[in-house]
Amino acid sequence: MKIHQITDLHIPEDGAAANFAHVKGNVQRQIAFVADDDSDLLVISGDLTMTDGSSSACQWLKENLPDSLKTIIMPGNHDDPAVLWEIFGAQRCVNESFHFSFEHDDLQYIFVNTTTDSLPENQLEFLASEGAKKPSLLFIHHPPDLVSKDGFMALNQPLINHAEVAEVIRASQISDVFCGHYHNSADIDCGGFQLHVTSSPAFQIDLNTAAFTTQPFEPGVRMIETEGLKLRTRIVYV
Ligand SMILES: [Fe+2]
Repeated sequence: MKIHQITDLHIPEDGAAANFAHVKGNVQRQIAFVADDDSDLLVISGDLTMTDGSSSACQWLKENLPDSLKTIIMPGNHDDPAVLWEIFGAQRCVNESFHFSFEHDDLQYIFVNTTTDSLPENQLEFLASEGAKKPSLLFIHHPPDLVSKDGFMALNQPLINHAEVAEVIRASQISDVFCGHYHNSADIDCGGFQLHVTSSPAFQIDLNTAAFTTQPFEPGVRMIETEGLKLRTRIVYV
């Protein structure tokens, strides 16, 4: 199975500040790459909008996603799940709770919803029960790890119950976790699972400075290729 992941698109509304003029073009480059790369599934792992909950930004994304591209839309902390559901519906959101799983060949794919900057109790239970079933991959907007504990995102925007979520993952059959939110890329051994953080096409944040500091970047698409229980992942810059 060949999965592509993009995240933290932060699509601006019409008339947004000039320093976000590059964002829509970068998202179009990402989508064009995926559409041309025999994708089995595109996962858009949250933070679709620049203005929180913007329906016009979501509408723009819908118009720019080819119908033929199987896509799962997840909410991030800047999204309104009700707006995503209204615009993308069951075809791309799967269900209104935005947490679900499916099996394909030897692996299970689990998706959870951290819109509230936390993984709620009912989803911790869902994660524990689904993750006990068989070898699994997890998609979650926020990293369940601080990544770099002295960085701006870790200090200001962590998943509130990241330690508790990480413990549930360690006790499960989840081998790899795919996320965004930190606006940078990283692949980290978290002692029990591999964490893969994917960058944003909008702006990149230095993970190692306490002050908010942006960095030069190119838009990237994470590729996740699975065969049996084997997994390969890397970011392709487009
Ligand atoms: Fe986020």
